[in-house]
Amino acid sequence: MKKILITGGAGYIGSHTAVELVNAGFEPIVLDDLSNSEAKVLDRLEEIVGKKIPFYQGDCNDATVLDRIGNDHQLSGVIHFAAFKAVGESTQLPLKYYRNNIGSLLVLLEFMQRKEIKDLVFSSSCTVYGQPDELPVTESTPRKEAESPYGNTKKVCEDILVDFVKSKPNMRVISLRYFNPVGAHPSGKIGELPIGTPNNLVPFVTQTAAGIREKLTVFGDDYDTADGSCVRDFIHVMDLADAHVKALSFLENQETNYYDVFNVGTGNGNTVLEIIETFQKVNHVSLNYQIGPRRPGDVVKIWADTKKINQVLGWFPKYTLEDSMRDSWNWQKNL
Ligand code: NAD
Ligand code: WQD
Repeated sequence: MKKILITGGAGYIGSHTAVELVNAGFEPIVLDDLSNSEAKVLDRLEEIVGKKIPFYQGDCNDATVLDRIGNDHQLSGVIHFAAFKAVGESTQLPLKYYRNNIGSLLVLLEFMQRKEIKDLVFSSSCTVYGQPDELPVTESTPRKEAESPYGNTKKVCEDILVDFVKSKPNMRVISLRYFNPVGAHPSGKIGELPIGTPNNLVPFVTQTAAGIREKLTVFGDDYDTADGSCVRDFIHVMDLADAHVKALSFLENQETNYYDVFNVGTGNGNTVLEIIETFQKVNHVSLNYQIGPRRPGDVVKIWADTKKINQVLGWFPKYTLEDSMRDSWNWQKNL
C-alpha cells in the first residue's frame, strides 16, 4: 500500500483528502501542528475510514519531525496542505505568512530530496489569477500581482516548484489551483472549522443559519454580474479531495522532473445571492441577510476552465451546488 504524507492533514481540505486516499487504496500519514485544527479530527477520520491513521503533531518547518516520519514510513508521495490561509491577517502579519507558507515548502522539498520521495501535490489557489481579464480562467491565463501576502506566498511557492523541477531533482510535482472549496463529508463528521469569525462566505452562511451570527452581509449587489453580487466557482471539498488522488495516481506514471498546474473548480460560476438562495431552498431554512457595501479588494467574478484537469487527469466533479449546501449545513448542525 503506498504511503502518502499529508501535511496539514487535520485541516479542512487535508482531512477530506485523507478519506479519499484511503478509499483509493493509499495509506495516509498525517502531519499537523494543530495551529488551525483540532486533534479530534483524527478520531472522526478514523470513524469514517474504519482504521487508524498515523498522526504526528508537529511543524512542517521542522526537519527533524519530517525525518522522523521518513524513518518510520517508506513514503511514496506528499500532499502539502500545511499553510496559513487568512488573507486579512496576512496583510497585518506578512512575515508570519512568508515564513510558514514558503519556509515549510523549502524544508519539505529538502526532506523529499534527502529521502528520495518522488511525488508532490501542492495546494495552490485561484488567488494567483487576481482580478482576471478573461473568463473562464485557464492555466495559461496570466497570473496577476498578488493582492495579499497570502496570495503572494502561493505565487512564490509555484515559482519555487518550477525552478526546483527544472534543476532535475528526480521528482514529479503538480500544483492544484483550488477555486472556492465548500461542503463537507456527507457523514457530517468532518468539515470546515473556522476559528473565530469566519471570513469566507459559506461558513458565515451556516453560522448565521445556526444563530451563531446574527446576520449575513452580502458585500455588494451593484457589480456587473447577473444579480449584482460577486461570482465564484464553488467546488465540493470531496471533489477537491478526489482531484488529489487523481493527481497522485497520474504522477506515478510520469517521467521524473515533471511539473504542471491544474485548475480545480466546477467550471461554473455562481453569485453570492445564488448561494444564499440555494442554501435556503435545499435546507428549508431562512437566512437573515442584508445587502452591504462592497468588500475592498474583492475579485468581481472568477470561475475555472476545467478542460485541462478533465482531459489530462480524468477528473470531473460529481457533487452539485445543492449537495455542497446540504453537506455544509449538515456539518454545521452536527457541531
Ligand atoms: P486549514 O487551515 O483548514 O488546514 C491547514 C492545516 O495545516 C491546519 O490543520 C493547520 O493546523 C496546519 N498547519 C499550518 N501550518 C502548519 C505547519 N507549519 N506545520 C504543520 N501543520 C500546519 O486550511 P484548508 O482550507 O484545508 O487549506 C489547505 C491548503 O489549501 C492551504 O495551503 C491553503 O492555502 C490552500 N487553499 C485553501 C483554500 C480555501 O479556501 N480553503 C483555497 C485555495 C487554497
Ligand atoms: C466569496 C464571496 C465575498 C463573506 C478567498 C480567499 C482566496 C481563496 C479563496 C485561498 C465574495 C462574499 C463573503 C460574507 C459576502 N482562498 N461574501 N459576505 O473572496 O473568493 O476568496 O477564498 O486561497 O485567497 O481570499 O472567498 O468566501 O471570502 O468570499 O458577501 O460574509 O462571498 O464578497 O464575493 P473569496 P470568500
